[in-house]
Amino acid sequence: MRRPIVVVGSVNLDLVSIGKRIPLPGETVKGERFQTFHGGKGANQAVAVARLGYPASMIAKVGDDDFGARLRQGLRAAQVNVRAVATAAGTASGVALIAVDRKGQNSITVVPGANDQLLPRDLEKALPQLRAAGIILTQLEIPMESVQYLCSVAQRFRIPLMLDPAPARPIPRRMLRQVTFLTPNETETCVLCGAAPDQLTVATVSRFAASLLGGAANVIIKMGKHGAFLATAAGLSRMIPAFKVKPVDSTAAGDAFNAGLAVALMQGMDLAEAVRFGAAVGAISTTRAGAQPSMPTASEVIRLVASSDGKKQSARPRRETRIAEAAD
Ligand code: RIB
Repeated sequence: MRRPIVVVGSVNLDLVSIGKRIPLPGETVKGERFQTFHGGKGANQAVAVARLGYPASMIAKVGDDDFGARLRQGLRAAQVNVRAVATAAGTASGVALIAVDRKGQNSITVVPGANDQLLPRDLEKALPQLRAAGIILTQLEIPMESVQYLCSVAQRFRIPLMLDPAPARPIPRRMLRQVTFLTPNETETCVLCGAAPDQLTVATVSRFAASLLGGAANVIIKMGKHGAFLATAAGLSRMIPAFKVKPVDSTAAGDAFNAGLAVALMQGMDLAEAVRFGAAVGAISTTRAGAQPSMPTASEVIRLVASSDGKKQSARPRRETRIAEAAD
């Protein structure tokens, strides 16, 4: 039986304005459309895992408001196991205010609400679920003490842990040493390394990755259209190119990437192949609006990977993708 991917993290309702551009501080701009989507970095990852056809369980908290009921129902409808999604009494659900521009770029303000109440004692109650995990996925939209608790549990029970250090904040080295896969984007990498945002480029990324490797065992720096830089304690160090797509909304692309990476690893791909699979999941998600509705099925991802393989190497025999095609 397949061990589930357990996601511990946030569940938000995304309130999204789509307009020509994102307002600057102090500026008012006219939006073109408004939509709500189910989001939250944790919930997005769980839904993406399930849509790829792999068993996903979520450990989270929603508020005791209409949003909370709607968000839990959305997870259930996406085939995510919600047994450990609790309701925080007298608390609002998490929301994210998202502005998306015509290039598909976004800016996000998150109001955590119930996500801030997912505490180590809640995770302790969910210990049987955590121990059953094939891999644990988490992010930084829940209290840091809970992320710390997860790191210790993962280390104690030898379960791989994938940490998406988003939203960006510094993380103690001793905590990073308990992380199996660290997956920052460019901004998060700079914050983790105490560097100015313009210091990270394709030319300098290997130095940043090497510095993070002093903590985590495997580092994957997500660099959008430049690709993803992979570095491992075992000495692997390379850029995995991005897939070329026409983006309409980059919201949750990082979440899609992590879900794809985790599913690929659980299906037995080697790390470089798994990063490529994750990159394909992330790329497809940018071609659609919203967080959870943008997550692709395994067949869509396999098609994108295969078409890119075909373009690159028509003369060479094509490498097996080695992931079971799940029922869409
Ligand atoms: O990563 C994208 C997510 O960040 C959005 O869905 C929003 O809810 C915030 O958590």
